[in-house]
Amino acid sequence: MTKNSNIFQGELSKSTVFLNKDIITPHYMPKKLPFREKQIEEMVSSLSNSLKNQKSDNLFIYGKTGTGKTSTTRFVLNQLKNFAEEQKASIETVYVNCRNYNSKYKVLSKIIANFYPEKEFTGFSSSFVYEKMTNFVEENNTQLIIALDEIDKLKELDDLIYSLTRANDELNKGGIGLIGISNQLTFKDKLDPRTKSSLCEKEMVFPPYNAEEIRAILNGRIKKAFKPETVEESAINLASAIASKESGDARTAVMLLLRAGEQADKNKTEKITDKEVQKARKKVEEQIIFDMISTLPEQEQLVLYTIANLTIHTKGVKRLGKENEKAMLLSGEIYDEYNKMAKNFEEKPVSQKWFGQYLTELNMYGLINSTISGKGQRGTARIIQLVFDPVQIKKTIEKELNR
Ligand SMILES: Nc1ncnc2c1ncn2[C@@H]1O[C@H](COP(=O)(O)OP(=O)(O)OP(=O)(O)O)[C@@H](O)[C@H]1O
Ligand SMILES: [Mg+2]
Repeated sequence: MTKNSNIFQGELSKSTVFLNKDIITPHYMPKKLPFREKQIEEMVSSLSNSLKNQKSDNLFIYGKTGTGKTSTTRFVLNQLKNFAEEQKASIETVYVNCRNYNSKYKVLSKIIANFYPEKEFTGFSSSFVYEKMTNFVEENNTQLIIALDEIDKLKELDDLIYSLTRANDELNKGGIGLIGISNQLTFKDKLDPRTKSSLCEKEMVFPPYNAEEIRAILNGRIKKAFKPETVEESAINLASAIASKESGDARTAVMLLLRAGEQADKNKTEKITDKEVQKARKKVEEQIIFDMISTLPEQEQLVLYTIANLTIHTKGVKRLGKENEKAMLLSGEIYDEYNKMAKNFEEKPVSQKWFGQYLTELNMYGLINSTISGKGQRGTARIIQLVFDPVQIKKTIEKELNR
């Protein structure tokens, strides 16, 4: 090996279309959020009480995936925190993703870790941690704003919301305001009425983006993410059209361009054209499906898992489906199998009525196809067919359920 050649040298000198790849990843927090001005304004108004040291309204945010709920909330909380510092107002903001912190204890611990970053609180009880939190709020006369993102993932939701709401009645000083965020359509309807009325004092919907809006969002990020003139106009249009047609989801659009860029680098084309976007499409679609599955509530995952499992093992393919099609299953047989599965995973199975609701939702998300087959012994029988690869789906859900 000559003196100047290092094994990393080649990697650095490879040509690339990216200027700053980070900016076109879904995790990047953009500093500007076009088309969310109205939502930002509403959030500001409902949080503004905290600047007067009054409890802010609790807020429930709902919107489909990729509509900017997380980015907007984090942006607003950051702005609030900065402004409070300027104004010397005692405000604390905590963002919690309930997918990672999915129990009352985990959420409360995450909150106090914010107040006492140097201390370890593992091994204490929920009530100890709760008291630590309320003491901090009272002693510092703080308005605490807690954002619970992907709140549908919380296991002891009613209990947690009840505790946090009750805290406000008991506090002599300071207050606690909540922001709940979900992309689950029917989540609100499943809440205990008391939880619902406290959490949803105010509600906000984030609508899907249209193609025009997605194009503008992409253009805003492309300028900083890619080298000049590497992304063709028609490629941007195509990515926007795909993302808006499928879901109005900005994440899909961002990922399409990211993968298209990687494709261009791999093939050393130095340009992103329609061809690269088309290639990226399949990869992104797969990823979106599996991301979507992992955000489903556990019980719904279990229903889908049962369907995937039956699809793999049912010899009845010829019974109802065509030879090379996926098995067509009857809702009744899925329900029976689901009851067994629930036991295996130590989950309490839901009633037949809820089970039917889950099938409706899975159908709506495009994960299964459901058709009515007429009246059966146990009400309306439905024929169910899985849309995507059962083996992949099973693997994804196994990972989720064993967390
Ligand atoms: N108005 C916008 N301007 C710029 N980028 C946006 C905008 N809205 C969303 N994005 C980008 O789209 C992606 C998805 O946004 P975000 O994570 O906020 O969606 P979400 O509504 O929280 O979705 P989910 O329900 O799946 O959690 C992120 O990369 C975000 O930066
Ligand atoms: Mg989100």
